Amino acid sequence: MSYNLLKGKKGIIFGALDEKSIAWRTALKCHEEGARLVLTNAPVALRMGEINKLAEAVNAPVIGADVTNMDDLQKLFEGSMKHFGGGIDFILHSVGMSINVRKGKTYTNLDYAFGQKTMDISAISLHRVLRTAWDLDALNEHGSVIALTYIAAQRVFPDYSEMADAKALLESVARSFGYHYGKRKKVRVNTISQSPVLTTAGSGVKGFDAFYTYAEKMSPLGNATGDDCANYCVSLFSDLTKMVTMQNLFHDGGFSLTGVTEEIINQMAK
Ligand SMILES: NC(=O)c1ccc[n+]([C@@H]2O[C@H](COP(=O)([O-])OP(=O)(O)OC[C@H]3O[C@@H](n4cnc5c(N)ncnc54)[C@H](O)[C@@H]3O)[C@@H](O)[C@H]2O)c1
Repeated sequence: MSYNLLKGKKGIIFGALDEKSIAWRTALKCHEEGARLVLTNAPVALRMGEINKLAEAVNAPVIGADVTNMDDLQKLFEGSMKHFGGGIDFILHSVGMSINVRKGKTYTNLDYAFGQKTMDISAISLHRVLRTAWDLDALNEHGSVIALTYIAAQRVFPDYSEMADAKALLESVARSFGYHYGKRKKVRVNTISQSPVLTTAGSGVKGFDAFYTYAEKMSPLGNATGDDCANYCVSLFSDLTKMVTMQNLFHDGGFSLTGVTEEIINQMAK
């Protein structure tokens, strides 16, 4: 059901790789709610070609950009403003990648060159995106920017490895830039700390399937799905949440504040 919450709004969605991607689910919802969109992903991801199906479904152009490349980002924002014929109202940063995890390097044996790349792609990229928008004055008043994060920024989940540090930095960038952009143009910047979802990025974490089931049992409402996350993004892009900024918002079915559940106790008693 559509409420037209984003009627007349224009947004850029980063990170739709395939139909499981949280960004993919969010693009569909934003379109359903009346938004006009530009889709973007790394050139290497575009070569898979999947994103063209989404582009057709939401009637949006695709502009490639590596989030670690300032020239790419400038072209993306300029191209988007040209397409929209004006400024941008919202941005979803749904980007993450751990090179050390991919290469099987454990947290106590990190390769620092890989680590720097991880930080750049997964955290500093939010600063790069906001900085590009800032320099081009691309975001409209009361614009809304969301980046996706995970609770490993606050509590230890050993196999999440260096991504925990990247998410802590990402959340900090959202707060710090949120201050400046709020002052300048009433733009809000928030992170959503999402439940585990079975996506390409999610499944890269060792033991993810078992962990997904554990989180499901540890959350009074169960795990929030990618579609649930998409709905939450719509609410944060809409005018109904104009005064929410610089927050890390848990969207996890209650996981973050649950000590233990009957399901887990019963399992341990077996
Ligand atoms: N899946 C989960 O369990 C979960 C939970 C909490 C938070 N998140 C976060 O949600 C976000 C989206 O992940 P997802 O689960 O939808 O997985 P996904 O693999 O579908 O999305 C990750 C995206 O990042 C893109 N990307 C990687 N390097 C890039 C680069 N250099 N430039 C531009 N784009 C690049 C990929 O192409 C991909 O589209 C990530 O930030 C992830 O950490 C995921």
